[in-house]
Amino acid sequence: MHRLTANQGRRRKAYKTGKMPMSGSYADIYKRSIADPEGFWGEAAEAITWSKPWDKVLDDQNAPFYRWFSGAETNVCYNAVDRHVENGRADQAAIIYDSPVTDTKQTITYKELQDQVARLAGVLRKQGVGKGDRVLIYMPMIPQAAYAMLACARLGAIHSVVFGGFAAKELATRINDSAPKAVLCASCGIEPGRVVHYKPLLDEAISLATSKPETVIMYQRPQEKGSLIEGRDFDWEEEIKTAEPAECVTMKATDPLYVLYTSGTTGKPKGVVRDCGGYMVALCWSMKNLYNVAPGDVYWAASDVGWVVGHSYIVYGPLLNGNTTIIFEGKPVGTPDPGTFWRVISEHKVKALFTAPTAFRAIKKEDPEGSYLKKYDMSGFQTLFLAGERCDPDTFVWAQKLLNVPVVDHWWQTETGWAICANPVGIEEFPAKPGSAALPMPGWDMKVLDPNQIPQAPGQIGALVAKLPMPPGAMPTLWNDDERFVESYMKDFPGYYKTGDAGIIDEDGYIHVMSRTDDVINVAGHRLSTGEMEEVLASHQDVAECAVIGVYDKLKGQVPLGFVVLKSGVDRDHHEIAHEVVKMVRDQIGPVAAFKHATVVKRLPKTRSGKILRGTMQKIADGNDYNMPATIDDPNILPEIEESLQDIGFAQKAG
Ligand code: COA
Ligand code: AMP
Repeated sequence: MHRLTANQGRRRKAYKTGKMPMSGSYADIYKRSIADPEGFWGEAAEAITWSKPWDKVLDDQNAPFYRWFSGAETNVCYNAVDRHVENGRADQAAIIYDSPVTDTKQTITYKELQDQVARLAGVLRKQGVGKGDRVLIYMPMIPQAAYAMLACARLGAIHSVVFGGFAAKELATRINDSAPKAVLCASCGIEPGRVVHYKPLLDEAISLATSKPETVIMYQRPQEKGSLIEGRDFDWEEEIKTAEPAECVTMKATDPLYVLYTSGTTGKPKGVVRDCGGYMVALCWSMKNLYNVAPGDVYWAASDVGWVVGHSYIVYGPLLNGNTTIIFEGKPVGTPDPGTFWRVISEHKVKALFTAPTAFRAIKKEDPEGSYLKKYDMSGFQTLFLAGERCDPDTFVWAQKLLNVPVVDHWWQTETGWAICANPVGIEEFPAKPGSAALPMPGWDMKVLDPNQIPQAPGQIGALVAKLPMPPGAMPTLWNDDERFVESYMKDFPGYYKTGDAGIIDEDGYIHVMSRTDDVINVAGHRLSTGEMEEVLASHQDVAECAVIGVYDKLKGQVPLGFVVLKSGVDRDHHEIAHEVVKMVRDQIGPVAAFKHATVVKRLPKTRSGKILRGTMQKIADGNDYNMPATIDDPNILPEIEESLQDIGFAQKAG
């Protein structure tokens, strides 16, 4: 492609008029983003290098399929890697890989990153991968996972990363939906106490899938080598040695960068599409104004590349902003102890840490006094960011007291790509309210509506919705499924994006996200579908009917719990059947579902119209008081349910 140049004309104009991009108070910035979205995001886009400027900042010709920066051309890999090499960051660390599970540490400079990524892109190109082709990435937390994503971005291929904790069948579903031309994978992952055999899982998934990738490029890890299938599989390192580096390909700002699957209400995951231009603009804005880090600072998102947090804030956000990003292969506890996070922060001079509240609950459980913290110099640490699930006020306050830095609970989703709500510490820090994700970020015009679309008064719970258009960074559609995009997100509240979360906006405008309004649960910050688990349970030969609900868990926030009703005439041991369905979920969805408990019941409690009373079942399982629902078809069922749950350790009353 021709060399990318900065959009200097526009930049000069911005400086000349003295209107520096988005400075001022949060209130001014936010107001302007809503009143003048094109002006606001047009200025924010100055942080990005474009090879051709946009025709229109916001293209609303085909609403609700909004497009940002239509007509513009750019390349995400160029912006995340090459321009930093050209602009004096060649020798700065781009990635620090810290892996307590393999006892490895490695620093990769921007120049080295460019070399690896360009060569890997060359390997893919040799295999016929080009613009618009899909590439599936199935890798653990190693630097090669980031190289893989960036190599795709360099070529204009659309990557789809699948989290390592999913089973072969889940992988197969994603292969079928995205129809990848190639797969980039590693031979294994390392979980504490066990090696995850990625290659056999991938082989099984490909054999299950109806769409067959032509090529597999496999990174052989020393902990376990994977077998190569002649003609289809290639050794990553061998190929890299002789690869011709590939240049960045010019992409439209509106072209897809990736597809990331996330749980919906059914067994078919939703392929969230992300564009190139709007995403870069939103991420760059957030690195400075929300996460408060400057180019050169060390930033750490302790998540996984398989989740949206990994896409936005392990790989793209920090690299676009010229930060050093940490790729951490370990857990908050047990690798080797609850001081691991503090060690990484002090050793690599981390300024901002982003993780899930579960990680802090795990640390708190093992080291409630925070004694491990005393061993480390945390003086450079600035801010803790939490997201991925509701943060309970206890954990929030504990983290705040322990670390003595601002703690920011922020709310977002795979669909949105970056935060809907946060405390924008890079602009100004507002008093935190534990249990709240604070204030809307630019472009997010949030409302709480009742089912009839009537706005709720401050403090009243309802559906959390965002007035359209959503800001740049949010999904433009679902992969190959415009219809489902409209059906799932746009239909119930015309003119708004339905987040699927319920919550309140209080008198101060703070948003409190309370629960999901659908069959999605959050287990240790991982988003899972109870509907999908029900589909697995229902496929057991002895099961007539079933339900899966999320119940309270002290560590993981929620865990799934299954109820099965047996077909008449089935006279087998109930515990055996419960074990079988537990195993089925692990085998078909994966260990990440953390589905460990199921119970056989005679009947499911239902309303007279046949709706399963999940809310009441949840209250019983959590040991909370409940009222007998007026619409229940048979009140005698509930004591039976309580008894079955007590048998497996649930439904325990406090005290
Ligand atoms: N590949 C393969 N298996 C994986 C995996 C991966 N990348 N990640 C997790 N798993 C497996 C685990 O080994 C575990 O299997 P097991 O049932 O055999 O023990 C299962 O999936 C559940 O994993 P996890 O949710 O990590 O629970 P855990 O009990 O192993 O660890 C915590 C508990 C709190 C330490 C862990 O949940 C954690 O670190 N949470 C932080 C949350 C987080 O990073 N969320 C990301 C979104 S921001
Ligand atoms: P995911 O798409 O995996 O990022 O999960 C998104 C979901 O996680 C949201 O819809 C919420 O239900 C939940 N979530 C994420 N962040 C928060 C938060 N800060 N507070 C409450 N819930 C959150």
